[in-house]
Amino acid sequence: MSDALTPVVRLAPAKLNLTLAVLGTLPNGFHDLHSVMVPLGFGDRLSLARASGGEDSLHVVDGDGRALHPSAFGSVLTGIREARRVVGRAAEAFPLAARLEKRIPIAAGLAGGSSDAAAALEGAMEAWGADLPAHERAAAAAAAGSDVPFFLAGGPALVEGRGDRVTPLNPLAGEAPGVLLVTPALQIATPAAFAAFDSDPAAAPANRGSTRLSSQHLAAELGPGHPPMRAGDLVRRAGVLAVANDLANAADVLAPGLRPLRRALSRLLGVPIGLSGSGPTLWALYPSLDGAEAAAARVRDETARGLLESPGAGPPSIIATTIESGRERSPG
Ligand code: C5P
Repeated sequence: MSDALTPVVRLAPAKLNLTLAVLGTLPNGFHDLHSVMVPLGFGDRLSLARASGGEDSLHVVDGDGRALHPSAFGSVLTGIREARRVVGRAAEAFPLAARLEKRIPIAAGLAGGSSDAAAALEGAMEAWGADLPAHERAAAAAAAGSDVPFFLAGGPALVEGRGDRVTPLNPLAGEAPGVLLVTPALQIATPAAFAAFDSDPAAAPANRGSTRLSSQHLAAELGPGHPPMRAGDLVRRAGVLAVANDLANAADVLAPGLRPLRRALSRLLGVPIGLSGSGPTLWALYPSLDGAEAAAARVRDETARGLLESPGAGPPSIIATTIESGRERSPG
């Protein structure tokens, strides 16, 4: 911290899986993944300041400033702890007071907790003035959770293995694609989704081989030697991407009512509807933020009129945002 009294502030973006192939099981029991992931233009906000006491502390508020019980947001403290572990004696790793503004729906397939952990890890190092080689940062991120290393890439990336092999992909060119997110008011725990995937025949993927191919294809198109992809190019691929998630049937098993909502959204909006991670967040892609906002307005209207049935304890969260490329555009 250049000035110990000035808090470090970090945005912790949500992520979207454009593809998610589960290739098998690793010797450590985790699943071997092949996924193209992108950061989004909305997320949580984390600030870190020097703690007055002798321990790290965490205060959490929702988007309206109401206090939330911090026990559900332990990934922030995990991120700080992993940072302290790798920094060791290389820096004065003083205790930090963290304040998290939570906007990303929880257990929703948007990796909010993992993004918070990554923001905490990098923010803590900044606060302590610590600099570490990239591979040590990556190891600390992997120790904090499977989805955490992705967030160090700062843009679209191919994520493989348990989540620890991250290959940055080309940023998208031109206007940022718009994304509509519809998150039913229910939570799906990632371990439960993988457990169902492993053991319940109804949760087996319908298109296993083709998901892998779609994922490999998209990763190649966003990789070296290809011209930059524009929003329109991505939107044209939405039909293929929307079915390229091997955890979709597991999410349907764990959240009955998700599949009918997905069909209803597809009918209402006339575009392919995908699932992010292990759900329950559903997505649709648009050439720009305007398109996503118009779609969000239609979904809100339909929900308000009682015409859209969404599983869960209340109406779904409906968010219009963008895919962020990070390296060429500044995050929104
Ligand atoms: O690493 P993290 O704690 O975020 O993972 C949560 C759970 O998700 C793991 O305990 C595991 O059950 C499952 N998982 C998996 N394979 C992955 C990532 C997560 O089986 N690649």
